[in-house]
Amino acid sequence: MSKPPVIAIDGPSGSGKGTLCKLLAQRMGYHLLDSGALYRLVALAAEHHGVSMENERALADIAAHLDVQFLTSADADKVVLEGEDVSLSIRTEAVGMNASRVAGLTLVRRALEARQRAFAEIPGLVADGRDMGTVIFPQACIKIFLTASAEERANRRYKQLKSKGLDASLADILVDIKQRDDRDQNRTVAPLRPAVDAVLLDCTHMSIAEVEHKVMTLIRNRGL
Ligand code: C5P
Repeated sequence: MSKPPVIAIDGPSGSGKGTLCKLLAQRMGYHLLDSGALYRLVALAAEHHGVSMENERALADIAAHLDVQFLTSADADKVVLEGEDVSLSIRTEAVGMNASRVAGLTLVRRALEARQRAFAEIPGLVADGRDMGTVIFPQACIKIFLTASAEERANRRYKQLKSKGLDASLADILVDIKQRDDRDQNRTVAPLRPAVDAVLLDCTHMSIAEVEHKVMTLIRNRGL
């Protein structure tokens, strides 16, 4: 049986991957993997259970046994961790920062591999992350590396947090984004980098509609 098609979208924090992937999944009627949410969930579960961000084995154990449900409905998507709705709390900058720390641990990444690959089901998958095209789905039929300047990404993240009613400072977000870029790009395990066969897309001066149009054209040109 042939494998379901995978569209892998990688790139740094705040490049608009999340919004793009949601739109693409809706357009294509595909499943959606938000792999960053998994690292955020590991960080949050560790916090709940009082596990240190340095304890690699205990964090990997949490990753391997994550009790999580991704619920989708017409009005809102929900992430439920151990029975609790954490859709908002996993999106804070503090959890994002801890997620980027746990994401640098080999055993944690390994513990999440099978769970991520299991999202690739018929009719297809849009996968959002840092290593979708390089490590998790190297066979993906389309790979996009979506980026934008750090300043523009910080600005977008700021607006996004504000619109969700969360407290935010633009200057702090920019520092966090640069730190996170540095950590994601320079870690030894699955560093953030474009796959050799990825299409690079710098969306600093593009609207989300323009990005979506460009990517949909690529997808259609590949016969999907
Ligand atoms: O994409 P998001 O900001 O939700 O991801 C949170 C953190 O998880 C990132 O800063 C990155 O360090 C890590 N991550 C990763 N690999 C992925 C997805 C996210 O290392 N595939």
